[in-house]
Parts: sequence; structure tokens; C-alpha cells
Amino acid sequence: MKGFDIMNKQLNAVIFDLDGVITDTAEYHFIAWKQLAEQLGITFDRAFNEQLKGVSRMESLERILALGGQTDRYTMAEKEALAHQKNEHYKQLIARMTPDDLLPGMLDLLRELKRQNIKIGLASASKNAFTVIERLGIREYFDTIVDAAKVQNSKPHPEIFLTAAEQLRVDPSTCIGVEDAQAGVAAIKAANMFAIGVGDKEALKEADYIVETTADLTYDAIVRAFYRE
Ligand code: BG6
Ligand code: MG
Repeated sequence: MKGFDIMNKQLNAVIFDLDGVITDTAEYHFIAWKQLAEQLGITFDRAFNEQLKGVSRMESLERILALGGQTDRYTMAEKEALAHQKNEHYKQLIARMTPDDLLPGMLDLLRELKRQNIKIGLASASKNAFTVIERLGIREYFDTIVDAAKVQNSKPHPEIFLTAAEQLRVDPSTCIGVEDAQAGVAAIKAANMFAIGVGDKEALKEADYIVETTADLTYDAIVRAFYRE
């Protein structure tokens, strides 16, 4: 039997979101969108940015355009070009990443999960997920990686987390999902997993357990939270 088993409850896998959980690429997405938005004459703040986290590239663009009252202003081809422009900026930002860009405590957590034989999955809405994981030098820790290319439905739909659990051959109820996004926490809950939120308490209030930063995301803390439920 893998993992812990107390009173029939068992932890078999931890499935991580990438951007804003393993590394601070959520900030890079924010910077790149903000620059594009300003070019379009739209300004947005960090509170609005919470609604973009975990959301696909095109959907993020649609939300920004809607905020600026510009929903019908561009053709599909123009929107594709705008999204492409944002992504080129984002790719420049991630090209400079190194293993030093892992958020505090994340490497220790990945190591400890491996040591405890708990499976590790990645569930990222980003088409750049593989590049980021490679730049961080942590590919070897993941038993499965599910990215935007492998699923039909975006978060908050549970598909990406359920696909990860299926590939890890574990029941969703034995999984912890870790997210920094409202849409991501909703996806984890809809997948019937234990949801851990990293970041703003108010934004992530649907989560089962919330930490302010990844420094608090220790193996002991998450296992304790999971079994307390
Ligand atoms: C998610 C981010 O992980 O990936 C979103 O939280 C981003 O901000 C989405 O829009 C899609 O990423 P990409 O790299 O495919 O544009
Ligand atoms: Mg995220």
C-alpha cells in the first residue's frame, strides 16, 4: 500500500499546478498581459488578475477585452495575433529562468514526496509547461504531466486533474491538488480531491487548506491537513 492510511483515508498522489505554485511564472503572465492590455488602452489591477489565473491564453485575452469594453473590436485573426504577441513576451521572460526560480520549499517538498513514495503529477493549463519544467530542472520528479494540449476543457472543469489521477492510476479522493488560482481550486474540488490553495485567503476561500506562501507548503503540513479533514 502506498502512502499513509489512517481510518481508511489514504494519500496516494499530489497533483500540482505550475504557474504560481512551483515557480512565480504567474507574475510573468501578469507582466505580459498588463503590457498588452496597456497597448490596447486597458488597465487592470492585481484583483482583476486573480480572474486570469489558471485560465487559458485565449480566454484570458477575452476577459481583458471584456474589461475594456472591447469584446467585438477585433476579428478572430487579430485576437490570435494579440495572444501570440503576449506569448512571445512571456517566452522571453521564461527563457531566463533557472532552478533558482523554484519557489521556496518546493524542491524539498518534491524530494520528500518521492522519498515517501507518493506520486507526483502536474496539471497545468499552460502550453509552455514543459519548457518551464525543463528550465527549472525538475522533470524527473513528475510521474505524469498533463498540460493544455492534452485536455478539452479548461479549469474550473475538473478534466485536467482527473486526467492526471487516471494516468497515475489513483482514485481522485486519495489526491491532493495544489493551486494558486480560483479556477484551479474549483477544478480540484469538482474532481473530488483535497484542495490546497497557495496565496490570497479571500480569493482561494473554496480551498480545504490555504497557505500564504509556498514556504508553508511542507510535507508535514499538507499531510496533516489532508488527514484532519
Ligand atoms: C495557466 C496560467 O497556468 O496557464 C494562466 O495560470 C495562463 O495565467 C495559462 O494564461 C495558459 O498559459 P500559456 O502559457 O499557454 O499561455
Ligand atoms: Mg497557477
